[in-house]
Parts: sequence; structure tokens; C-alpha cells
Amino acid sequence: MQLEAELLEPLRKPFLKWAGSKTRLVKALRPLLPLDKKRYVEPFVGAGALFLNTNYPKSLLSDTNLDLFQLYTILKGEKEKFIKTCRKLFVKENNRSEAFYEFRKEFNKAKDPERRAALFVYLNRHGYNGLCRYNQSGEFNVPFGTYNKIYFPEAEMLGFAERLQTAELKHQDFRKTFGTITKEDAVYCDPPYVPLSKTSNFTSYAAGGFSATDQRELAELCYLSSQHGAVVIISNHDTPGARKLYQQAESLRFESVSRTISCNGENRKQAKELIAVFQKHVPI
Ligand SMILES: C[S@@+](CC[C@H](N)C(=O)[O-])C[C@H]1O[C@@H](n2cnc3c(N)ncnc32)[C@H](O)[C@@H]1O
Repeated sequence: MQLEAELLEPLRKPFLKWAGSKTRLVKALRPLLPLDKKRYVEPFVGAGALFLNTNYPKSLLSDTNLDLFQLYTILKGEKEKFIKTCRKLFVKENNRSEAFYEFRKEFNKAKDPERRAALFVYLNRHGYNGLCRYNQSGEFNVPFGTYNKIYFPEAEMLGFAERLQTAELKHQDFRKTFGTITKEDAVYCDPPYVPLSKTSNFTSYAAGGFSATDQRELAELCYLSSQHGAVVIISNHDTPGARKLYQQAESLRFESVSRTISCNGENRKQAKELIAVFQKHVPI
């Protein structure tokens, strides 16, 4: 469990908008993290809302989204210099649809990793609902967001860069990340959601989807790692299917969270969140 003093610290917000971001769940998740572990692991880091609010001496952050991985790698290395580069894109004349589509075209052709990463931050804040979606050819295809005012998340980027200094970054599938987990690890998994209904099937965080088999393999890895001594927390939509997936967990918790970005970007639903805690049962 987290120390009381840590729980009183104000919550830090990620600098990226991210579908499924757990900013609203941090208060419920943070007290579940064990204090006696040496490393924090997030195999589906996204915008890293929980990571940002942890204090472990070491972290391993991974995700299959290559743009996200490259952005974090550059931010970790260049810190203020990269933030300054991004700030130049956040000017009034760039908050027009013509400018947005020019930058989106440039992003999709960009070879220079730093330019591509800066454009990724621009697209995240100027695009529709902060969505990150790619077409079949791997091109970013989110439309212009039409916001009156655009916020440049300078303080949030600096805070994230600071936290990244003790983090190892890996662009990889969750199975590979689980391959490195030991009994010294506290793990938080926030996979793409199981569908709420048969019609909702949001699987476009990166080219390629996240299947029912992936969900089952992940649940099994959470269980196996906990039997080897790690503490693994996983969150998902609270559906009968998800409860069944995590039936081997030591405990299940339920939280209501209001969403700003819905799962399919159109239907805004208030979904309940299920939090499963996998840890080895120690008989009293
Ligand atoms: C719900 S989001 C995570 C949100 C994050 N917790 C936050 O607070 O912003 C799910 C993430 O899983 C990543 N992802 C999808 N399939 C993956 C896979 N097979 N292995 C690892 N990451 C994957 C996506 O790129 C996305 O960033």
C-alpha cells in the first residue's frame, strides 16, 4: 500500500490526451500499489497517468505504439530542448484546419524522429478529441479538432520528462514485457478495453487490433506472474466477460468513472470500470 503522505500529494496529469487514459482512476488505483516492490511496470503505458503518480526507484514502460515510444525516448533525452521545439508549433495560426492537415501530411511522411515526435504532440492537442488513430497503411488519420483555445502542456511535459529519467522504455508487445517480470515488480495493466457490446469494437490504438485471445493471454500472464510473487493490477470495462476473464484474481473492485473520450469516439457512454488485483494468496 502507498504511504499516507504520498496519497496526499496532488495528482499529476499526463501531457498527452489518450483514449482510455486513467487520470480519473488514479485515486482508486494508487492505494492498491504495493510499497515493498523495487520496480513499477506498465506494459500498456499510453499517456502514463498512473506511472506519473508513482514513486518507485525504477520503472519499465512499454507500448506497441511506435510514435508514443519515440516521443517518450526523445523527451527523456532532450527534456527542455524538445519542449521548446514543440512550443513553436503551438501558435494561433496553427490552430486552423488548413495548417492542421498540412502538419498531418508532413507527420505521415516525416523521417526525422524529433520532428515527427513534435508533430505528434501538436496533432494530439489539435486533433479531434485527442484521438490517436491510423488507417490500414499506418497513416495517422484523425480529423481537425476545432478548439477555440489550445493549451500547451509545458509544465506537464516537464513533469513527465523528470519521471522518465528513472524509466526504461520498450517498444514491445505485452507478452515480451511479461517475460521480464519478477517478484520485485508492481505491475499495472491497462489494455485496450473489452467491447462493451457486440457492436462496439474499438481496436485502433495502433495498426492491428487487440483480440479476445490477447485478452485471455493477458489475464493468464497476470495470474502466472502473481504466482511468482509480482503484484499485478489490471483494469477494464466492468462486463460479465471481463469478470470471467479475471476470475483468478485475488480481489475485484468496481469504480464508476465519467469519460471525456469514449471508446469509439462517437457514443459517449458512462461505463463502470473493473479493477482486478492478482497476488499470491497467503493463508493467515
Ligand atoms: C487504454 S490504453 C492505456 C492508457 C493508459 N493507461 C493511460 O493512462 O493513458 C491502451 C494502450 O495499449 C497499447 N497496446 C495495444 N495493444 C498492445 C499490445 N499488444 N502490447 C502492448 N501495448 C499495446 C495501445 O497502444 C495503448 O496505448
